Amino acid sequence: MKRDEWKSRLGFMLAAMGSAVGLGNIWRFSYVAGENGGATFLLIYIFFILAFGIPLLLTEFSIGKAGKKDAVGSFMRLAPGTKWHWTGVMGVIGGTLILSFYSVVCGWSLYYLFHYLIGDFWTEPTGGFGQSFENWTSTTWEPLFWQFLFMIAVVLVVIRGIKRGIERANLIAMPALAILMVVLAVYSLTLDGASEGLAFLFTPDWSQFGNPQVYLAAMGQAFFSLSIGIGGMLTYASYLKSNDRLPTATVGIGIMDTVFAVIAGIVIFPAVFSFGGDVTDGPPLVFITLPSIFASMPAGGLVGIGFFALLVMAAYSSALSMLEVPVAYVHRTLGLSRKAAAIVCGTVIFAIGVTVSLGYGIWSHVTIVENKNILDSIDYITGNYILPLGTMLMAIFVGWYWTKDQAIKRSEINTPILQSSWYFIIRYIVPVAILVIAITSIVDK
Ligand code: PFF
Ligand code: NA
Repeated sequence: MKRDEWKSRLGFMLAAMGSAVGLGNIWRFSYVAGENGGATFLLIYIFFILAFGIPLLLTEFSIGKAGKKDAVGSFMRLAPGTKWHWTGVMGVIGGTLILSFYSVVCGWSLYYLFHYLIGDFWTEPTGGFGQSFENWTSTTWEPLFWQFLFMIAVVLVVIRGIKRGIERANLIAMPALAILMVVLAVYSLTLDGASEGLAFLFTPDWSQFGNPQVYLAAMGQAFFSLSIGIGGMLTYASYLKSNDRLPTATVGIGIMDTVFAVIAGIVIFPAVFSFGGDVTDGPPLVFITLPSIFASMPAGGLVGIGFFALLVMAAYSSALSMLEVPVAYVHRTLGLSRKAAAIVCGTVIFAIGVTVSLGYGIWSHVTIVENKNILDSIDYITGNYILPLGTMLMAIFVGWYWTKDQAIKRSEINTPILQSSWYFIIRYIVPVAILVIAITSIVDK
């Protein structure tokens, strides 16, 4: 059977950008930056994107393009008879776990969109947005309903194969989201708390540079935001025809993704200080802060509609790429049709997601990692351990299993100086650095 292929290079670019830009840039970036001290985190984060993230994204693309199969199959084809395909298996598990909580947060976003559409979030509810967030997420059925709706939408599109409609929609939605974010950032800068917010985001606390937890969190966020480590970008690159150029796409995606995150920070943190929020609020942070911003601005209700509509679209294209990982694998190995594979995977993910959602309600006392609830725990384990381990294995695969010639040829880098720097980073720096960060942060605990 012939595998799907991107119709054009643009299709691949849009899908990969769609995968990268999502809740990670706004929701996860803000809350992880907030919990890890702001500016120190931001500096280390940007360093990780440039030094590791972008080279690793290229690594993951190269494997997929050379392997021409799903995350597991590509390793089997490129390294037959070895254990390398376990890297892909870990990705399938990681993607499943990430989507299980990602879809819950997408459900929250849909709920917000709906409440902006019907107008009842246009003004601050009694008790404030924080209280109303808590009240509704602690109910059992309503969050599950929105999460279910979201999963149905994701499964339906994945069933239909490589997703042209979505990519086209992203062509408009992503620039629109970028423009809206810039407008919001400018507005946030006029708020009372702007200077405090900016100081939090841009004035590093040098004592924190010795804190291994900040490095772990920044590394995890860099990989999460670029969608690397679980084989989603690998799978997308596997649908590429041979004449596409990887390095330009990689750098473009890396820069755009980071710009989105920084702008999100400029929107969120001034508002947190203005409206008396708490930067360490965790996952609910943006769901409390953003509505306060909208409620305080002229025509804020309409802004809320636009913002949550675009956020849902950005999250949607990221979710599609996550679901693609297990679906492509199950489709090939269990001999299920794409449709059956998407339904099976979607159901498993939804089921895990139910526990995540209940973690904000009847199971809020359940903690897995330290004092973290179910969402925080799965997010922490996947982001800080599974993604770094996945990217590290991919770096070792390309840096040590492939020959230098193979690696460089498949990376499609043309400039000799860039070739050798990239190869050096992948072969030596990345594996050592990830190992050191993981170990010191574990020991530090
Ligand atoms: N990069 C996405 C975001 O920032 O929202 C999240 C993501 C998508 C992570 C796909 C991993 C993945 F495979
Ligand atoms: Na991202």
